[in-house]
Amino acid sequence: MTPPIEILPSLLASDMSHLAEECRRAEAAGADGLHLDIMDGHFVPNLTFGPDICRAVHSSFSGALSVHLMVTHPDRFIRPFAEAGASTLLIHVEAHTPAGEGLREIRSHGVRAGIALNPETPVSLVAPWIEKGLVQEVLCMTVHPGFGGQAFIEGVLTKMTEIRMRWPDLPVSVDGGVTGRTGPLCAAAGATILIAGTFLFHARDMPLEVRRLRESSEAARAERLSRL
Ligand code: DX5
Ligand code: ZN
Repeated sequence: MTPPIEILPSLLASDMSHLAEECRRAEAAGADGLHLDIMDGHFVPNLTFGPDICRAVHSSFSGALSVHLMVTHPDRFIRPFAEAGASTLLIHVEAHTPAGEGLREIRSHGVRAGIALNPETPVSLVAPWIEKGLVQEVLCMTVHPGFGGQAFIEGVLTKMTEIRMRWPDLPVSVDGGVTGRTGPLCAAAGATILIAGTFLFHARDMPLEVRRLRESSEAARAERLSRL
């Protein structure tokens, strides 16, 4: 059975001068977890957080922590982030570390293993690892990774549908440009985990937007299922 919709605010869009408060604000707003973007200035042209910040976030939030490694050498960072409290670690299939190796190492630390694909990357590149049973979440990037606040790339919706049709039980996350309009489109296409930075952290009323996004996405998904 397809898992329920989860809403994960992305801390990239939070007020980083009050990170602990922002974690607690997201938790109070009803978030199912938090998303933390790790950038190395090489895989993407930006830098963000290290394991010490991840540990601080972990101590300020009691839910699940999804850690997205946008780095060229994820193998160097899996252990430090596992030890810093990641519940899920997502590596990119386009990174230097062979995906199978990275996914196995994540699982060896007792952490959920996920694989991320850039907007242009085809599903065929991750299919072998899913077929081997190594993937517990597939993250579809709907912007080019590296920065928050970009426009949603609608063409990626077909990729979500393809994944959902081929692997009906697999959790599928979507990351980049998720809003009250695009979130339900993703849910209808088969996404189950909605990661949203700007839309939620910059909202006037975060609890209201989390609730609306969940309800509209659940409804969009139910509508799609009723047509199958
Ligand atoms: C982008 C990051 C996203 C980012 C999304 O490279 O992976 O997690 O926070 O930000 P919004 O929701 O603002 O597009
Ligand atoms: Zn991300």
